[in-house]
This record gives sequence, structure tokens and C-alpha cells, in this order.
Amino acid sequence: MKKLCVLLLLAAPFVLQFCSSSKNAVKAAPKLTYTANVQPLVVANCSPCHFPPKGNKKAFDTYIAVKGNIDSLIERVNRNPGDKGFMPFKHPKLADSTINVLVQWKKDGLLEN
Ligand code: HEC
Repeated sequence: MKKLCVLLLLAAPFVLQFCSSSKNAVKAAPKLTYTANVQPLVVANCSPCHFPPKGNKKAFDTYIAVKGNIDSLIERVNRNPGDKGFMPFKHPKLADSTINVLVQWKKDGLLEN
């Protein structure tokens, strides 16, 4: 009996660890990517101005360009209409959920695919 108790005590941390890590696996949302989540958003909201050759503003037409300017993109869309430098220029403010895609993409590590 004593032996069995010791055995259970020794095994408990492993059993618990297994339980908690499998719970995390269920909770973790898939990471956002440029191709699936960010590119469609930028195309829909920042064209034509930031898409050469039609637009002549700073280009956000590639993964590298958006990744390299992500802080400034997030900063501009968080300004309010009427503020200097608000983006998208002369358009309504983006929905919080749309802005959040950019923020979450950065948190997820700025993945391309
Ligand atoms: C109707 C045209 C238009 C649209 C749409 C537009 N922009 Fe702009 N954008 C401009 C203009 C004009 C400037 C230059 C003036 C300024 O810097 O405020 C600019 C500048 C910027 C800059 C600064 C670039 C630099 O030189 O460093 C950022 C960042 C930016 N826009 C982000 C965005 C984002 C993100 C979107 C989409 C959500 C967007 N813009 C949509 C016209 C536009």
C-alpha cells in the first residue's frame, strides 16, 4: 500500500503536466499570417494610395513593406478622423476588430504564411 502511494505521488506531476499542456493546445488560436489575414485587409483599406503604380504614397504592396512599417501602420490607424496623419486618409476609422488583426499579427510574430 505504501509503495503504491509513493508511486502515485511520483506520477502526479507528469499526469498534471499532461493535462495542462493539452488544455493549452485546445485554447491556442491559430496564428495570424500576412497572406491570410493582413494582405486582404491592407488591399481593402489602403488601396489605391499605397499600391503603386496607381498610388504614389509609401508602398504597402508586399509582405516586406508591411512588415517593415507595421508600427507606423498600427499607429496611424489608431489616430482619429480629423487628427493629422489619420489613416485611412479621408475614410472612416477602421473597426476595432480590423485594427486588432494588425496588432495580433505583430504579437504572433509577423508571419508571412
Ligand atoms: C485615399 C488615400 C489613402 C488611403 C486609402 C490610405 N492612405 Fe496612408 N497615406 C496617404 C497620404 C496622402 C499619406 C501622406 C501624408 C501623411 O503622411 O499623413 C499617407 C501616409 C501614410 C503613412 C506614413 C508613410 C510614411 O511616409 O512613412 C502610413 C503609415 C499610412 N499612410 C498608412 C495607411 C494605412 C495603414 C492605410 C490603410 C488602412 C492607409 N494609409 C490608407 C493616403 C492614403
